[in-house]
Formats: sequence, C-alpha cells, structure tokens
Amino acid sequence: MKLNIALLAGDGIGPEVIDQAVKVSDAIAKKFNHEITWKPALTGAAAIDAVGEPYPDETHDICVASDAVLFGAIGHPRFDNNPSAKVRPEQGLLKMRKKLGLFANVRPTFTFPSLLDKSPLKRERIEGTDLVFLRELTGGIYFGEKGRRDEGETAFDNCVYTRVEVQRIAKKGFELAMTRSKKLCCVDKANVLETSRLWRETVQAMEKDYPEVEVSYEFVDAVAMRLVQWPNSYDVLITENLFGDILTDEASVISGSMGLMPSASVGTDNALFEPIHGSYPQATGLNIANPMATVLSAAMMFENFGLKEEGNAIRNAVNKALDAGFVTEDLANGDNAYGTSEVGDWLAKNI
Ligand code: IPM
Ligand code: MN
Repeated sequence: MKLNIALLAGDGIGPEVIDQAVKVSDAIAKKFNHEITWKPALTGAAAIDAVGEPYPDETHDICVASDAVLFGAIGHPRFDNNPSAKVRPEQGLLKMRKKLGLFANVRPTFTFPSLLDKSPLKRERIEGTDLVFLRELTGGIYFGEKGRRDEGETAFDNCVYTRVEVQRIAKKGFELAMTRSKKLCCVDKANVLETSRLWRETVQAMEKDYPEVEVSYEFVDAVAMRLVQWPNSYDVLITENLFGDILTDEASVISGSMGLMPSASVGTDNALFEPIHGSYPQATGLNIANPMATVLSAAMMFENFGLKEEGNAIRNAVNKALDAGFVTEDLANGDNAYGTSEVGDWLAKNI
C-alpha cells in the first residue's frame, strides 16, 4: 500500500517520540512491502515561533492531502502561566480537530501482563481491563461561545451539543460495541445538565437499532469512581468532550504509565493518531520519554487502513520490549532504563 502520512511532531518531547514511531513504521513498511511518504508539518508552539500560528494553513493543506496524520504532542510551559496569551499552542490542536472533522476520539485502556504490578491500582482490580473510550471531540464546552463579561469580572464557556453530533459519536459507540462484548456505557451528567439529557435521549432512541447491545447510563462522577474500583467491568464508553478528556487521563494510569496509551481521532475523511500524553516539557531533549504510546498510535494507524497484521507486529514488539525490560525510565526498575531512541531502535529491529 502507498501511504502519505502527515507528520506533526509538535512540541516538547513530540519530535523525539515521533522519530521512534517513524523508525518503527518504516520497519513495518519494509517488512510488509508498503511505501510510506512522510510529510512533516509545523504545529503548536513550534509553529507559533515560526509563523505566528499554531495550526498554519500550509499544515492544514498537508493534512487534508494525506491519508492520515501522525501527531506527537502540543504545549509549552511559557503559555501555561500566561492566561492573557492570545495565541496558544493548544488552539492549534483544537482547530485541527475541528477543521479535519475529527469528531471521535478513540482512547483504549488496556493492561500489559508484565506491568500489572506497576499500576498504582491493585493487580486484582485491573487484571483483564480492556476498555475503550469514545470521546466526542469537536463539540461541547471546548467549542461553545466563550468570553468575559462585566469588565472582565465574569467569564463563561458554553456547552452546546446538537442531536446530530450525539448521533454520530453514539453510532460509532454502538458499532464498536458490536465488535467487542456488546456492552456500551453512556457517560453523562443528565441529573444536572441539559446537554447530557439530550445525549441520553438520543442514545436511548438509538437502542432499538442495536438490540444486541446492552446499554447502561451512568453519571460521570460515578464513572470516575468505578473506573478505578472495577475498570474491568467496562467495555465501550461514550462521552462528551470535557468528561472524556478528564476520564481518559484517569484511565491512563491503570496500565502503569501514561507513556503507553495511544489514541486515534477519526472523522468522515481523515484520521489522526497521537499518544494521549502531553509534551512533557521537563523531559525535552533528554532522550528519556517513553515512545511506546506514539509507536502504538502508529499501530492504530495501520489498523485503521485495514492492516491488522502490521498493527499486531507493532504490538508484539512492544510487548516483547516490556517483557524484556527494554524500557524507558518511567517503567524501569532502578537504573535499568534505556533512552527514547534506544527503545525505538530496539522496537524497529524487532519488527
Ligand atoms: C488531550 C489534551 C487536549 C485536550 C489539550 C492539549 C487541548 O489534553 O488531547 O486530551 O484537552 O483535548
Ligand atoms: Mn487531555
């Protein structure tokens, strides 16, 4: 297969972890006879520095012309403590999601047999966890009207959803549940929020189209609790943008390291693959960040093209590295830590 992949390394550790995903993907291409053309493009603080814009038009054009986007990380501390900054790296990510129509963020959480004791949660609670969040990504409070009123004394963010927006993410949820254990949990706050009541009503109306799927409706606060008590009781969860943002960070600790969790953002035409971790500025340039989440995001990318064997080859290499203890410092015992690029080389070699 010939693949054109837009490569958006972004900020902080982004370029370092992206390099490893490229190495591993190139090894896959070689082994399975694919041809990957990488199209690097600017985003985030790096793009602000270069052209004053976190998601420049040239980058958008490259993404639109590509078969998929592989993304590193975005964010820089110099913006975090400056609430009055007009241009922020994160705006680039939001604009990209919106302009590329990436409305469904797929965030799996699973455990690795060799890491069960690395999790802050007890082994018996997490064993067997294999769940997927479908986070709505282009609506809700992230995109509603926002601003300051009363000479700056009052601020507001509006949470808005339309039925169509809920239907399209719920459809993905039902379809995904059909390929798994046929259990779908709709996470909302319908006891308080009108948007949540629209979500619940819309999902309830769709149940009849998927009679085999067992649907549960749970409040987000209760899910936050059960997620760390009995994560293995969940399968597919659908939720709105902000709830999904928060819950997927919470879920990421189950596996033992946030540096392991990949994600996909899919829409009608394009798809983007990225680790769920951020730009980890303290580690920038130190060759210590865990590249596995980005490498596993590349696995999701191959699978999205229908290349299951390729995806599995990457997963197997990662599992092998974890079993062999060929890991970065976040997962290492004491002094046996390898560098970001050494782990990348090892994975590429073991494809
Ligand atoms: C994520 C991130 C982003 C979000 C930020 C960087 C805008 O936290 O992808 O989860 O809130 O969606
Ligand atoms: Mn987040």
